[in-house]
Amino acid sequence: MEKQQSKRETWNSGLGFILAAAGSAVGLGNIWRFPYITGEHGGGAFVLIYLICVALIGLPVMLCEISLGRHTRRNPVGAFKQLNPPACNMAMLFGLGMIFCGVLMLIMRSFGWGLLFTLIGILVTKYRWTVVGVMGVVAGFVILSFYAVVAGWTVGYIGKALTGKLAFNTMESASASFVAFISNPFLSIACLFVFMALCIAIVCKGVQAGIERISKLLMPLLFLLLILLILRGLTLPGAMAGVRYYLRPDFRVISGESILVAVGLAFFSLSLGMGAMITYGSYVSKEQNLFTSTMAIVGLDVLVAFLAGLAVFPAVFALGFAPDSGAGLAFMALPTVFNQMPFGMLWAFLFFLLLMVAALTSGISLLEVVTAYWVDERGWKRRDATLVFGGCIFLLGTLCAVSVQNWDSIRPVQFFLQALFARIQPSFFDTMETASDWMLALGGLLTALFVGWVWGIRLAVDEIRHGSHNFADVHLWSALAGLKDDPSHNSEVHVYTLASVWGVFVRFVCPVAVVIAFLYTIGWLDMGEDASPEPAPEPAAELAQP
Ligand code: PFF
Repeated sequence: MEKQQSKRETWNSGLGFILAAAGSAVGLGNIWRFPYITGEHGGGAFVLIYLICVALIGLPVMLCEISLGRHTRRNPVGAFKQLNPPACNMAMLFGLGMIFCGVLMLIMRSFGWGLLFTLIGILVTKYRWTVVGVMGVVAGFVILSFYAVVAGWTVGYIGKALTGKLAFNTMESASASFVAFISNPFLSIACLFVFMALCIAIVCKGVQAGIERISKLLMPLLFLLLILLILRGLTLPGAMAGVRYYLRPDFRVISGESILVAVGLAFFSLSLGMGAMITYGSYVSKEQNLFTSTMAIVGLDVLVAFLAGLAVFPAVFALGFAPDSGAGLAFMALPTVFNQMPFGMLWAFLFFLLLMVAALTSGISLLEVVTAYWVDERGWKRRDATLVFGGCIFLLGTLCAVSVQNWDSIRPVQFFLQALFARIQPSFFDTMETASDWMLALGGLLTALFVGWVWGIRLAVDEIRHGSHNFADVHLWSALAGLKDDPSHNSEVHVYTLASVWGVFVRFVCPVAVVIAFLYTIGWLDMGEDASPEPAPEPAAELAQP
């Protein structure tokens, strides 16, 4: 069953792994998506809910992924293949369920979803859990194709800041300039190319010399840039209104929808559900403490999201802009805000550099998932795999980039998607973004189910115990109760260890929560009057509307 790995690269140091994984987690999700989604969902209360989702769902699932990776020392496909049981009732049940739903959808003439569900169902009944890994690799293509487009915009905006072309006095002029920028296919494809070339160059160099080295360099830079921007924002007159808006929870504005949005955002932001953390975990040494590393990665991710809000809202409020201007907050509102400060272009440059750095460390992790699969499973050379599949992602990205404003110019793709999906997305870019949302939720759900019920918590805990035996031995209940010094603290009587609490979450809490979030993401769960009909947050076409 097991394919022997000759020699697998590992991270050079524990810190290197934490920074690289935090680099994957910290990205556009934290600095671009988190502030605008917080703005749309009422500020402080949403932040609190997001934190709860991260702690209760994100953290347990991340530990699942990292332990799976380290145990198998493989890419997501290899990891699931290695632990795939020869027969599995749960996989069979799940596969048949998917086929049943797929056929129902076909009968209801929902061809795209019907075909997709039926296909996944058939594959699951045949290949069982390996399909989860395959979905992860496919998600790598899908996510990076639109992610790199937005990252490319940041490259373009760095250029604009450097040449003083972001001096907007009104939101109208900022949005007109943004629309002109993203409507120019050559420009956005050139920017996409620069971003993808950077990702490819880094991933080509390998785990230690490429990913780890660049993460160790860029993550501190990212913090420095953030702190500079926060200091600037907070020292503006009137900034405190923004801080208050951001930090004072108002639970009246929270709906069921906000909670589900928070779950989806937690998955995206923590890079969960597509095997990125399995892949990064596969390069971790047995001595590393997985529990504390996971806490550190999640902690850094949350910290950056939190700080990004603190960099954005005080400045937005101080200059009298609306905090809920959606996905355009970064590309339209903020340049206008910066322009009204002394040395505006400098702040704009620093902000877009920050965005680009964050996107780069995430982009390389997406490409690494795809590369690791071709290297591990197909025996390709790292350089060849990175170049070929990075190139494919670039091509897919060009479709996304062009479709944002000129959807009609790629008629065949449009026609194909329209034939399959009744509720057509405004562009190919949005289709990819929506697909990524449901792929991550589905991947996260299946990963938790696999670790909780198939691989088993006992074996997973054995893996985590290497390098962190406290995880299974500290009796959480007595520690929480202040009885850590009691002689009975580590006796058999106490069962609430960190590990047992984790097991309960992985087996029950996370799957239930993610199923609900998934149904919402694919539009099957209506959250009443607050619910928006479109599951995906802020399609790019909407970006373009001033
Ligand atoms: N976590 C990244 C962000 O917040 O921007 C996005 C991402 C990276 C998602 C890697 C998934 C992934 F595998």
